[in-house]
Amino acid sequence: MFHNFYWKRKGLPPGPTPLPLFGNVFEINRVGLEPFFHGIKEKYGDIHTFWFGEKPVVCINDVPTILETFIKDGETYSGRPLDMMVTDMSRHGRNGLIFIDGPRWIEQRRFALRFLRDIGMGKNLMQERVLDEVSILIESIKAKIDKGEKEINLQNIIEIAVASVINAILFGYGFSKNKQEEFYQLKEYLHDFMQGIGNPLVRFCDRNPFMYKLLPWIYKDVTRTSNQLCDFFMKQINSHIAEIDFDGHGDPTDYVEAFLRKKKELENEGIIDHTFSDKQLFGACLDLWIAGQETTSNTLSWLVIYLMNNPEVQKKFHSEIDQIIGSDRFITLEDRSQLHYVNAVIAETQRFCNLVPLNVNQRVIKDVEINGYKIPANTTILHQISTVHFDERYFPEPTKFKPERFLDSNGKFTQSVNLMPFGVGKRACLGEGLARLEIYLFAVNIFNHFEISVVQSNPPNTTRIAAGSVQPLPFVTKITPRL
Ligand code: HEM
Repeated sequence: MFHNFYWKRKGLPPGPTPLPLFGNVFEINRVGLEPFFHGIKEKYGDIHTFWFGEKPVVCINDVPTILETFIKDGETYSGRPLDMMVTDMSRHGRNGLIFIDGPRWIEQRRFALRFLRDIGMGKNLMQERVLDEVSILIESIKAKIDKGEKEINLQNIIEIAVASVINAILFGYGFSKNKQEEFYQLKEYLHDFMQGIGNPLVRFCDRNPFMYKLLPWIYKDVTRTSNQLCDFFMKQINSHIAEIDFDGHGDPTDYVEAFLRKKKELENEGIIDHTFSDKQLFGACLDLWIAGQETTSNTLSWLVIYLMNNPEVQKKFHSEIDQIIGSDRFITLEDRSQLHYVNAVIAETQRFCNLVPLNVNQRVIKDVEINGYKIPANTTILHQISTVHFDERYFPEPTKFKPERFLDSNGKFTQSVNLMPFGVGKRACLGEGLARLEIYLFAVNIFNHFEISVVQSNPPNTTRIAAGSVQPLPFVTKITPRL
């Protein structure tokens, strides 16, 4: 009792009292992820601690301290937790991009970023890929309207388009034209997997592996869903391995090809001390898929819901596009700097949908002192994006959807340091450039072509389904062509 209620908590920031072995997991489960984290911020302040079983997690909730720690001293905060059993099991060891750290992470993050930059992240080549999908998406909506569909499920169409972009980047092909069945199968696997790992009980067991002995069905379920995903990705990787022509001279066109070429290059140079293994390739594909699909398509789905529920915002959105573009041509990155209201709506959507209820856990790699609290090396720590986005100090009237908060007195879009949907510091989102490009191109082109409104008999339910990211419930829309 002394150990649990006093000794293990000594020196750490305050927080809800943990139960022995379980920590605060039952409370999180009972209250829900989002209300729990907002509640403990209100009660215990900007720096607090909660417990996943026997492991403390220190959360930083105010912008000045986040900047002082995660940005100014980024290196110290760049670790990932040491014990992550489910994570390791689903990636065949500590592989991938999200949960690795140290030299493996430095080499692999650099490689992935360079690849994304090379194929045009934020530049034209990438834009062309996204615009291909935008064009298929617009045609498929038009086909539904022509067929007389009155209630269109835009969420499904967005999901397949976003999935096609990331799949093309990883494996060289999209799903929208003739591989829809494959997408729905993969989506089901991913959904099962994400539901599993988003479950607070699994997160808790992940950090306290001995608990799997008491809750064996949890381990079994996550193993089943991760094996399904593994089979899918390994099929793609193996077919690349079978077909790749190492003597070819063109630039690689997808991630798997770039990775296999790099591996071969290192082998040819006689370098054996590298991290380009087949397991690492599988882990990276899994991470890029997981991180790149649901996040972006959920953000776009929320944007559609907010513009349906706020017709006056949609009207202003349309009127800016009409004024600056005024035709059915593709709206591209080149137009972006003129579309101030569009940018403000996207920024407010990212704040308001507050996609990540609990940021990815990080680890301090050495002892640190934050605002008088002594945090020992290897403690799990994170900056809590979700409370920052709803903090009155940074966003007055946070529960209102107000794009104007991102416009200055001249109506020009202004970035805010307080808006951090992609996280900050060394571990900030690796796909930020791609995600920003996708959200902008899909949103602005969809709304250029269509007016989207609520089906009065079946309005969208704005209940938030919080797991790894926050998903809206399925909804339908009434779509009217504008051009
Ligand atoms: C709206 C879309 C997205 C949002 C809101 C988002 C948000 C985030 C957040 C909050 C993190 C954790 C940052 C931290 O640890 O502090 C993250 C990490 C990551 N994201 Fe994203 N993300 C999005 C899209 C994407 C896309 C499209 C990709 C892939 C191309 C991607 C790949 C990754 C990866 C690989 C990491 C781990 C980076 C590392 O640990 O070094 N994300 N993302």
